[in-house]
Amino acid sequence: MSHKQARPVESERVPLKARNVSFSWEGTPLHWVPGDPFTTHTINVLHLLLPAGERWFVHVYKQALPLIRDDRLREDVVGFIGQEAMHSQAHDEVLPHLREQGLDPTPYTAQVDWFFEKLLGDRTLPPGRARHWWLLERVALIAAIEHYTAFLGDWVLNAAELDRRGADPTMLDLLRWHGAEEVEHRSVAFDLYQHVDGGYRRRVRTWATAFSALVFLWQRGVRFFLENDPTLTGGKASFREFHVRGRQGTLPSTGDMLRSVPRYLSRSYHPSQECSTAQAVAYLAASPAATAAERRAA
Ligand SMILES: [Fe+2]
Ligand SMILES: [Fe+2]
Repeated sequence: MSHKQARPVESERVPLKARNVSFSWEGTPLHWVPGDPFTTHTINVLHLLLPAGERWFVHVYKQALPLIRDDRLREDVVGFIGQEAMHSQAHDEVLPHLREQGLDPTPYTAQVDWFFEKLLGDRTLPPGRARHWWLLERVALIAAIEHYTAFLGDWVLNAAELDRRGADPTMLDLLRWHGAEEVEHRSVAFDLYQHVDGGYRRRVRTWATAFSALVFLWQRGVRFFLENDPTLTGGKASFREFHVRGRQGTLPSTGDMLRSVPRYLSRSYHPSQECSTAQAVAYLAASPAATAAERRAA
């Protein structure tokens, strides 16, 4: 039935390019949202999840490239790989700065590495159906995760409350450069999944897995930061704290997050129906890190 098929918005598509950004962290305080370690560390979890997570995206997509029978999609996937490799590296470069401030993330990142490299890595499967099945599962998982990276990208581009609270401009630029590229390439993972499989049951199943894993890893990450932050005593992570920050606008709201679930599970969903490419492109044209990268490239 045609009305139930994914409907892409063609005008939202842009050619993708990786921007070779760099950031210097010397001036960024430990609590880069002033006076709010909970918000700071909830967002900081990104620096622990994304280096391994986005490396894994790239690893899986290199295996999926030979399955692509459409030149435009292949071009998008190659652009996506370039952007995600850069994101992974940029977040990884925050970790030495955390260590200098007395917060060594290694105990947590070791678990994240195990999760992506072992649990979700290449299993010793014989070439053929089993190996192909495992590749499709992972391509579908990435499509579900990218629903959330686009959601977060759109959120951070619009999170004016972080500016009002005096959040560190370098960290905001990292988050918004990354968020803007997530918005730019938000359709690629879904289009790739539709191209290689597109089954609705697999979409639902892998969404449930991705969502549960993200919630699990995220709350563990926040707890890890609050327990190991040398300036805090008895820092606790609670859902209530998260909910309150969502209402204040320093974190995504619980309501927005819940409303994003049925959208991804709708049969007519396409990522191009969400977020604004124009806003992402406008941010990238003004971002200090992205414009410096353009100048270096020129
Ligand atoms: Fe990314
Ligand atoms: Fe992405």
